[in-house]
Formats: sequence, C-alpha cells, structure tokens
Amino acid sequence: MLEKFSFRKEKTDSKGSVYSLEQIDRSSVPNHIAIIMDGNGRWAKKRGLPRVAGHHEGMKVVRKIVKASNEVGIRALTLYAFSTENWKRPKTEVDYLMKLPEEFLGTFLPELIEANVQVRVMGNKDQLPPHTRNAITKAISETRTNDGLILNFALNYGSRFEIIEGIKSLLKESNEGKLNIEEINEEVFERFLLSAGLKDPDLLIRTSGEIRLSNFMLWQLAYSELWFTDILWPDFNENHFYQAIVEYQRRTRRFGGV
Ligand code: FPP
Repeated sequence: MLEKFSFRKEKTDSKGSVYSLEQIDRSSVPNHIAIIMDGNGRWAKKRGLPRVAGHHEGMKVVRKIVKASNEVGIRALTLYAFSTENWKRPKTEVDYLMKLPEEFLGTFLPELIEANVQVRVMGNKDQLPPHTRNAITKAISETRTNDGLILNFALNYGSRFEIIEGIKSLLKESNEGKLNIEEINEEVFERFLLSAGLKDPDLLIRTSGEIRLSNFMLWQLAYSELWFTDILWPDFNENHFYQAIVEYQRRTRRFGGV
C-alpha cells in the first residue's frame, strides 16, 4: 500500500549512476515533465561559495537535462527558474538570477535551435528587467517554428497569480459578451492559464529534499505523479532524471478512477 503512495521520497544516492537511458520504456515516455530546481543555495554554502555560484552551476544542469529530455523524446519540459516570491531575496541575488536567462540563451541558443527546441516563457514578463525580457523575446522568436522539445521556463511565475489573471481575462471576455458563463468548463479555463497549449505535466520532479509545491502549477499538477529527491539541483544529472522517469513508468495512474 505504502509503496504506491505518490508522495514518497525516492532514495537516490549522490553518485546515483545506476539508471540509464536504456532502462526507459520508449512506449510510455511522459509527455510533459515539470521541475522545481531547488538546492542551489545549499550546494554553494556546502562549498563555502556565494549562493549565486550555486545558481550558475544550476544553469549548467539545465543544459544537461534539456539534452536528456531530447534523447528520451519528452515533448515539453517546464523549469521553475524564478517565482513571483523570489523578489524577496537580496537584490544582488535577484539581479544575478535575472542575468541567467541572458547568459544561458546567449551561450546555448544556437545549440537549442540546432536541436529543434522551441523556447517558451510563462510568467509575468512585464516586471522583468529589459535585458532579461529582450533575451527571452529573442529566443522565443528565433525558435517559434521549431517543433521539437518545448522548453518552457517559468520565470516570474506564480500559480496563484496565473489563476487570478486567468479569471480576470475570462471575466473580461464574458463582460464583452464573447463568453457565456454556462460555457465555462475546465477546458475553457485552461485557455486562460499561462500554460495554455501545453498538456498538464505527467511528472513533477523536485530536488533538494523539500516536499512542497511552492505555488507551482497548482491547477496543472492535479493528477501529475510527484517525484522528490534529496539531490541538490547542481548535483542533479541525466541518471537521476532517467531514474525519475523509470520510477514514473512503474506507477499506475488512475486519474481518480480504479
Ligand atoms: C532554488 O534554489 C533555485 C532558484 C530560485 C533558481 C533556479 C535557477 C536555476 C537553476 C538556473 C536557471 C537557469 C536558467 C537558464 C534561467 P535555492 O536558491 O532556493 O536553493 P536553497 O533552497 O538551497 O537556498
């Protein structure tokens, strides 16, 4: 009974290299994986480094996991890069985090284009500094027609913000007579979310041992499988990612049925 409980924390060891690409059943690959990339600060602290060093190392892991997702044949990968609550951090850290998309895309955009990856960003873009907004706008535009992996950055994203904004837009359409209240159902509402057009994540991964959702995709994760590991994000690698997928494939999804 207990072993089927989705909230259990998987036992991964920090070397954990036992899982490989070959172990993944290609007939039931998750369509959409979402990741809460946590533990950068602790990784840096353990090494006597400033927190931002952890974020920089974490950025390199993003590249690895994008490549691995492509190899596995995942359709969409959503990465929680900055939450609406992260503005509460010290200004130097916020400034650094706002430079990372620029650095990442400045370095890896050609590689993403070559790999047919489509970059998307969900979040409140209006509050982003112009240099961050420019970098993501360029990447979105240059990868718009790619039809491979969708790499969706949740940037200045918060699920409650998303839901409230969705309700506002929905009410606006209704007030303008474009939408009849009787027509509103889950499918209609999803069109007003920032993830519109993406299927709900099949699998959520959170690193660093924290077992919570932190205002991340609360609507979309309703029936996702949740997988937690103690590995800190900068230590997370392809093998851990494959392990999460293999263990996802061992689970029985019932979506409330029997
Ligand atoms: C949480 O760890 C991590 C973040 C708030 C930032 C995540 C960002 C990256 C991994 C890099 C993003 C890369 C791109 C390309 C945008 P934490 O700082 O809360 O860690 P802690 O809990 O150990 O303090």
